[in-house]
Amino acid sequence: MTTAIIGTGGIGSAIARLLGSGGETLRLSSADHESARTLAARIGPAAVVAVDNRDALQGAEAVVLALRFGVLKGVINEIAGPLTDKLVVVPSNPVGIDAQGNLIRLLPEGQSSGEVVAGWLPAGARLAMTFGTMSADLLESSSNRSPEPAVLFYVTDDDRAGEEVERLIRTAGFEPVKAGGIEQSGRLEVGGDLHDLVVGPAKARSLIDGA
Ligand SMILES: NC(=O)c1ccc[n+]([C@@H]2O[C@H](COP(=O)([O-])OP(=O)(O)OC[C@H]3O[C@@H](n4cnc5c(N)ncnc54)[C@H](OP(=O)(O)O)[C@@H]3O)[C@@H](O)[C@H]2O)c1
Repeated sequence: MTTAIIGTGGIGSAIARLLGSGGETLRLSSADHESARTLAARIGPAAVVAVDNRDALQGAEAVVLALRFGVLKGVINEIAGPLTDKLVVVPSNPVGIDAQGNLIRLLPEGQSSGEVVAGWLPAGARLAMTFGTMSADLLESSSNRSPEPAVLFYVTDDDRAGEEVERLIRTAGFEPVKAGGIEQSGRLEVGGDLHDLVVGPAKARSLIDGA
């Protein structure tokens, strides 16, 4: 299967390496193409560099928007047509860096990235929020854990998106666990109780059930 990854920085490159290792075909796109080219060269024949963001979606069943929150809306508008009828995976947390280098929240407390992104997507796009619950380093070091796989939480309002994103999560070397609909996205994002957790399936399900 083919997945487009738009944004090949910290988290996009980690997701691409994991999916590529798991056998997924990848179409990569970044702002100036350089990071996408470097990443594709490292992954090998499974990854190609797209001409631009729209081209990345050609022949892809799913797209990962591995972008900072501030650029997400512009890129969604740019690729809105081809997004219809695709799985859209978003790992973005609603945070940025201020002039002093401090991490700042870009949305009011209580409003999640997932809920805002859902409102930006065209009808027919199937949103799943995942792959943003842990740092890129932790994501890579926790994949294909043995004997007990590590869990990646996801949220979606769409059953088909749930099946599709579970396949991607397994391809990346994790056990998928649904934490609810998009209204639960804040639990996965920075400041949420399921953020930055590396747990096995039983613990993950007890955390969901105990909520
Ligand atoms: N890094 C992590 O450990 C981590 C973990 C969990 C969640 N997240 C979340 O993931 C999101 C991305 O974080 P990041 O650390 O990966 O950011 P990053 O390292 O700055 O990477 C952002 C990527 O977006 C690309 N980009 C920017 N504008 C673009 C455009 N118009 N079209 C196509 N690509 C564009 C950049 O291209 P260039 O390479 O050409 O500059 C870069 O590859 C954030 O919301 C963050 O909260 C990050």
